[in-house]
Amino acid sequence: MLREPFKAALVELLNRVETPFYAYDLAEVEARAATLLSAFPRARFFYAVKANPALFFLRFLRERGFSAETVSLGEVFRAYRAGFLPREVLLNGPVKPPRVLRALAAAGVPVIGLDSTADLERVARYLPGARVLLRVNPDLPVQTHDHLATGRGTSQFGFPPEAIPAAVERARERGLAVLGLHLHLGSDLSRPEDFAAGYRVVEELFEVLGPQPVVDLGGGFGLDLDLAALAPRLAPIEAKAGAIWLEPGRYLVARAGVLVTRVWGEKVTRRRYLLLDAGMTQFLRPALYGARPPVLPLYAGGAEAEYDLAGPACESTDVLARGVRLPAPREGDALAILEAGAYGASMASTYLDTPRPPGYVWDGASWLLIDEPEPYAALFARERG
Ligand SMILES: Cc1ncc(COP(=O)(O)O)c(C=O)c1O
Repeated sequence: MLREPFKAALVELLNRVETPFYAYDLAEVEARAATLLSAFPRARFFYAVKANPALFFLRFLRERGFSAETVSLGEVFRAYRAGFLPREVLLNGPVKPPRVLRALAAAGVPVIGLDSTADLERVARYLPGARVLLRVNPDLPVQTHDHLATGRGTSQFGFPPEAIPAAVERARERGLAVLGLHLHLGSDLSRPEDFAAGYRVVEELFEVLGPQPVVDLGGGFGLDLDLAALAPRLAPIEAKAGAIWLEPGRYLVARAGVLVTRVWGEKVTRRRYLLLDAGMTQFLRPALYGARPPVLPLYAGGAEAEYDLAGPACESTDVLARGVRLPAPREGDALAILEAGAYGASMASTYLDTPRPPGYVWDGASWLLIDEPEPYAALFARERG
């Protein structure tokens, strides 16, 4: 649920701005950052930029000691723009074409996560002497949505554990500075034992490789993950590694953000729908992963009923939530789609020539516009002919 002062500020903001928009409670990001820092006092944190790449949040988290985890050239450029130095940026991802590596050589070389043999050879060629981590795919059946599980043996990520020793040797032969290993099991994980199973695979590799200067244990912290239960599971690795790195994204920003949308109609088919001015173009996760975000009415309505919430696209997947109990709204009443601060704005598209929504941050005293509304003209600006 939302903090009361934030909710009151949201209701006031609604009088002044058009929907849909994203709004963020800065106190929540601050609190989440503090929780992580105190749960893992010896770790170094790399914020996963993809969760919410707003320059505002990048600068905010950098000031609190975070580095940046990226997976594309654009995210690296963004991190540099926000003030991160190359040594404070880690570039992961399975595909880094020559064009990307040449651009990094010119702009400043971040730490690179190596994902395959082809990746290793190409990075060695274009970024000689780069500092690298090798990503391990532990082949574990982690419990999360299929699309969010990256540490299964069927996924395209990382080296199988048995290939790691030869890959480390090869990286050294090619002149790369091997910092250590990288593990990322998936996103939205809520069971400490899933993390622990991944950590054991890394520990077993230590037996073969010897201790490593860095072990990056990735992100994936579910919103209600018990950090106090997870922290002791890191201890055996902490004892052997020079430094532990972590890459949280969702955990920091998801609960801080809401997507605010208005109801513009009700329709009863064989289900009861509310028709909204936001949907999959603004918030893709329900259509992509079947995510079902909590929903908060920002109005005092009549008797309650159960509704499905449909967006404006002509797609049957354009449903933000199903079976939500809400007081009956009037036309124009607003809803807050909760837990939309991560993988919300970052995945918004301009599908159907829909401008991406603006973003506002509540800092406890006033609203800051961090992301301007996208003008319609911008939708056509790149086209010729
Ligand atoms: C390599 C890597 N690190 C970190 C993250 C962040 O995950 P989360 O937002 O679940 O913490 C991701 C997410 O996809 C990832 O792929």
